[in-house]
Amino acid sequence: MTEKRAHFATRLGAIATTVGSAVGLGNIWRFPYEAGVNGGGAFLLIDLFFVFVIGIPVVCAEFIIGRNTGLNIRGAFKKLAPGKSWALIGYMGILASILILSFYSVVAGWTLEYLRLSIVGFGAENSVDSFHSRFDTFATSDISPVICTLLFLFINYVIVIRGVQRGIEKMSNIMMPILFILLVVFCINSLMLPGASQGLSFLFNPDFSKVTPSVMIGAMGQAFFSLSLGLGCLITYSSYFKKDTPLLKTAGIMASIDTMVAILAGIIIFPAVFTFGMEPAAGPRLVFEILPSIFTQLPGSTIWSILFFFLLFLASLSSTISMSEISIAYLVDEFDMSRRKATTIIISIAMVLGVLCALSFGSLSVVTVFGLTFFNLFDYISSNILLPIGGMFISIFVGYVLDRRIVKKELSPKSSRRELTGMRLVILCLRYIAPICIAAVFLYSLGIF
Ligand code: PHE
Repeated sequence: MTEKRAHFATRLGAIATTVGSAVGLGNIWRFPYEAGVNGGGAFLLIDLFFVFVIGIPVVCAEFIIGRNTGLNIRGAFKKLAPGKSWALIGYMGILASILILSFYSVVAGWTLEYLRLSIVGFGAENSVDSFHSRFDTFATSDISPVICTLLFLFINYVIVIRGVQRGIEKMSNIMMPILFILLVVFCINSLMLPGASQGLSFLFNPDFSKVTPSVMIGAMGQAFFSLSLGLGCLITYSSYFKKDTPLLKTAGIMASIDTMVAILAGIIIFPAVFTFGMEPAAGPRLVFEILPSIFTQLPGSTIWSILFFFLLFLASLSSTISMSEISIAYLVDEFDMSRRKATTIIISIAMVLGVLCALSFGSLSVVTVFGLTFFNLFDYISSNILLPIGGMFISIFVGYVLDRRIVKKELSPKSSRRELTGMRLVILCLRYIAPICIAAVFLYSLGIF
């Protein structure tokens, strides 16, 4: 086992890196598409409930485990609860991280293609229909999406192999603020579109008649996915935190920024959806058809488009780096493997599965398991099932099993009133609210409740 662990150089670095993991395609691509499919406002409201009432405490729980042990996900549970089956959470997280890495890289590959198209030009036709058929032609072909997926995973490989500090931290620090500014600019533009009020009402007016078991489970999955939560990613990252990084504050800042970015993406997308007469429930393709249509309306559209897809690519990269880190840290710590070998193994597996996901829109679109293509299946199993179950067990572990002195040392080192109140709220949620709510959503979705 490695004795000395690298640390993020600064406190800001710790925040920037966790935000880098959280903010990515989950906010800009997955949130609008899921909200579109699941009826808009009600989905957003349930998502917010899960982020702030359950997400933040479970983020804290992962931070406590990670920083206290300074170990990878499986090693951490082994150290805190030796000989018990809690380490199974670790295996579940590793499985989830590889499944997510596989389908996520496909969409990240699409951003590479759209970056290329932004540079060479989308062609003479700029109608919404033309963006629709362009996406179709690209995504259903069997070559380009596969190449883009593999290229993306290769770039991820090269960066991950260089280790923690140099690669990840520097990049996150620079690119997140730029992406944020760009989103604000697009947001202002969308608010001036003729369909703005319709779009905003879709996103912010909850229609509770649309709440079904699948909306509940989708919103819970989205909250976990977007916060990179429930699979040990934050355990792994916080194992690199310094002792003076304030955990509750970091969790709060991370969740707030993450949610803000998703809402910004919604404000960009839905006014445009209604302006261009598109279907909000278009699915995974939604953002890739709407955004280019928005860009063509802006003066200097090429520059905006290049900048946006480049930053989206970087945001995806900082997320996939964090996913890869879960299983790599595990192999390196537990098997004394070299970083190079561990990275090669994990990325090779992701490449094989990633190809299956990339072909899910083309020649493998007819191959389905439980009615889902590989792409949708990997997303569903990981986001909607594995992450919430992982989150439930992590809350139970920290709420009931872990020595309370460790929780106190990590969450409230100074024992100030504020820290103690925060800690009590977190514990209340970890013991009762989170496990009960997560279990209730599962029972509800199984039709038992
Ligand atoms: N949270 C990331 C996003 O929103 C995705 C992710 C999931 C990253 C799980 C790491 C682990 O894009």
